[in-house]
Amino acid sequence: MTQDLVLIVDFGSQFAQLIARRVREQHVFCQIVRHDLTAARVRELNPKGIIFSGGPSSVYEVNAPKADPAILQLGIPILGICYGMQWLCQALGGEVVAANHREYGRAALSSHGDTGLFAGFPADATVWMSHGDQVSPAAGFHTLASTATCRVAAVQFGKTPIYGLQFHPEVSHTPQGGLLLANFLRGVCGCAGTWQMSSVLEGTIAAVKARVGTKRVICGLSGGVDSSVCAALLARAIGPQLVCIYVDNGLMREGETEVVRKTFQDWFKAELHVVDAGERFLSELAGVTDPQQKRKIIGREFIEAFQREAKNIPEAQFLAQGTLYPDVIESGGSVDGPAATIKLHHNVGGLPEKLGFELIEPLRDLFKDEVRRLGAELGLPDAIVWRHPFPGPGLAVRCLGDITPDKLRILRQCDTIFLDLLWKSGWYHKTSQAFVVLLPVRSVGVMGDGRTYDNTVAIRCVQTDDFMTADWSHLPYELLAEVSTAIINRVKGVNRVVYDISSKPPATIEWE
Ligand code: XMP
Repeated sequence: MTQDLVLIVDFGSQFAQLIARRVREQHVFCQIVRHDLTAARVRELNPKGIIFSGGPSSVYEVNAPKADPAILQLGIPILGICYGMQWLCQALGGEVVAANHREYGRAALSSHGDTGLFAGFPADATVWMSHGDQVSPAAGFHTLASTATCRVAAVQFGKTPIYGLQFHPEVSHTPQGGLLLANFLRGVCGCAGTWQMSSVLEGTIAAVKARVGTKRVICGLSGGVDSSVCAALLARAIGPQLVCIYVDNGLMREGETEVVRKTFQDWFKAELHVVDAGERFLSELAGVTDPQQKRKIIGREFIEAFQREAKNIPEAQFLAQGTLYPDVIESGGSVDGPAATIKLHHNVGGLPEKLGFELIEPLRDLFKDEVRRLGAELGLPDAIVWRHPFPGPGLAVRCLGDITPDKLRILRQCDTIFLDLLWKSGWYHKTSQAFVVLLPVRSVGVMGDGRTYDNTVAIRCVQTDDFMTADWSHLPYELLAEVSTAIINRVKGVNRVVYDISSKPPATIEWE
């Protein structure tokens, strides 16, 4: 089935991925592309519409990003947002001027009609602005909406299907922004809005089958959402040709290995090799306190354990990984996508090259929330689909200082208590990541008639969209009190619980 495609031209916006997610929420598939993609390549990709993102530059800066102006002649509908609108204005012969003062935050928008892009849009609405420059009114430009300080807050450039918005429809502070995007995608571009997880699933399964043929595929399972969905999808696609390897590094949470074993053997009937490498990891980690050193040892041991096991699997030609779209974009790994901007993901890299397998990444076009929906579509249990992320180095980075079996025991017990109470209170779904950290601090307490001198644990719970920034969760005091009491009463060796109220930045989510 051919699929409607929308391109999002990235002018360096912090919101490009957010725009992409909003477009996909309208059931339209889209991809983020670099700003200097040629018109010829755009024609080849044959999108139904193009969105030019915002960006931090001014169109007058020497190195301001530019798109190929020939794109404007292709007859493809275009929506420019903020900088994208200003670039369109300049390219179409209009004037961009500096606003009297930089406008940042909420603004009251009055729209001048309710057809086309603004069909069904209220005459007065709140929108979110963030700009220094703005578009001047000009003959042939139809102003569709204004604010007190910005006359051309929305515009149609002449009779073309080319539009601009000075505000950001993609952010939640523009409550009606979804309607504008829907009007653009369906009304202006004519997208059918039929992109959904069931068709993604079908398409991906067909592609995997065609590529793999009769060969075998190894999939590394970590117990997290991404690798679980990746494995479940492959199990559906190629059945017994799939072999999963799960390395138990001795740093997993309570019962984690059992959950993975049960899900994949009972539920998916996939061949699963559980490598019990806990003792080895812990002996290599003994006495090591430096966080980076811990990560290095764990990374090295993981590759060795995986490699040893993979050697026992004959006819394996492919290695599957649950890489997601944000990782592909940020590491510059997509064909038409922007250059690498941020990071190489903690866990990406190393494994396939070292092992000489061909890589399969069936989730590389998807965002996390889409992967969760795919997981649900595949019938994975809620406890896996809605699982918070868990770092590759596991409890090692939550046990500050050196790692001992007794410290891991304390951490596991505390973590189980906290997560149980979070699930029971309904807060697990409302938070992005939650865990306990064992601090290298002892303090004095009283228990019964006796004095104690015991460990302190910190509760960490955050809200975030992308894990690049995060706010600490405002958990109810009653819940915190319940967690604290349960931990201190039930976990031997802990007499103090503190709550971490630091945001990222400047703190990170993990403590190491
Ligand atoms: P930080 O602590 O950097 O964490 O704010 C951001 C997200 O990444 C996870 N994290 C890791 N994941 N290997 C991983 O697979 C790692 O070494 C690692 N360090 C942090 C962290 O749990 C959070 O979700």
